[in-house]
Amino acid sequence: MTFAHRHLLGIEHLAQHEIETLLNLADEYVMLNRAEAKHSDRLAGLTQVNMFFENSTRTQASFEIAGKRLGADVMNMAMQASSITKGETLIDTAMTLNAMHPDLLVVRHPHSGAVDLLAQKVNCAVLNAGDGRHEHPTQALLDGLTIRRKKGRLHRLSIAICGDIAHSRVARSNIILLGKMENRIRLIGPPTLMPSGIQQFGVEVFDDMTRGLEDVDVVMMLRLQKERMDGGFIPSEREYYHRYGLNAEKLAFAKPDAIVMHPGPMNRGVEIDGTLADDINRSVIQEQVEMGVAVRMAAMDLLARNLLETRGAA
Ligand code: NCD
Repeated sequence: MTFAHRHLLGIEHLAQHEIETLLNLADEYVMLNRAEAKHSDRLAGLTQVNMFFENSTRTQASFEIAGKRLGADVMNMAMQASSITKGETLIDTAMTLNAMHPDLLVVRHPHSGAVDLLAQKVNCAVLNAGDGRHEHPTQALLDGLTIRRKKGRLHRLSIAICGDIAHSRVARSNIILLGKMENRIRLIGPPTLMPSGIQQFGVEVFDDMTRGLEDVDVVMMLRLQKERMDGGFIPSEREYYHRYGLNAEKLAFAKPDAIVMHPGPMNRGVEIDGTLADDINRSVIQEQVEMGVAVRMAAMDLLARNLLETRGAA
């Protein structure tokens, strides 16, 4: 198994074979997670600290469960209550924590690049749990695992990513990952929510949703990231739902066995019809959550191996 990285900061640093290594290990952790006794001691003796400077439900919970199932000592820093609110800088907080000898640091931050910066200052392995609009690598990996298990492969599929692409780190990490795995990527959304120069990533862009969905294998919906918009991106939520909300009629343009994905949290009735989101014959949203735990276990396991090896060599 080769996964020669100290940190997991973004999909852009991973090679195709490293993505496969991680997903193969995650498949094993899916089995552990479905067993009665969900415990391993891979991270026994190691300390994992979760630092979330932005709200999170799924991601934080699944990193916490992942660490605990692997036997790590897990601490969640309550960032709202920390010295950050007293004006301490990100780097000062990181240096303080670093002095307590954590082994794995899981960080979410509203600014693109903040997690990379922090990784340069600490002695432990850093996992990016989402930085601004930049990357959310474990989300793209869990999406990749979900697709691979449902479709039997993660290459030469036609995959539509729909909605607020411009503000989405999930879209960015997925575009990179699905491209590295040699899939056809279509981006669907209003021109105001498409990042400029996106064609250079080798994607096809559509503003007509039914045309964009034609014959795709996978439909990945994104949340309208209102907190990242400073107004004026869409005429109204009703109008948006009419043109870009996924419902059964629009989904009928995709392949008959196309799957529906959403990273959560969902705005039902804005980007997706609630009944479709709950339709277990089409929607794999719950599987994505399940795969999230396994992928995070695999990522922390691989980084911990590298960390212990480097320390052993020192
Ligand atoms: C996403 C995020 O925070 O980037 N959620 C998640 O991690 N599952 C997507 C979003 O906020 O819309």
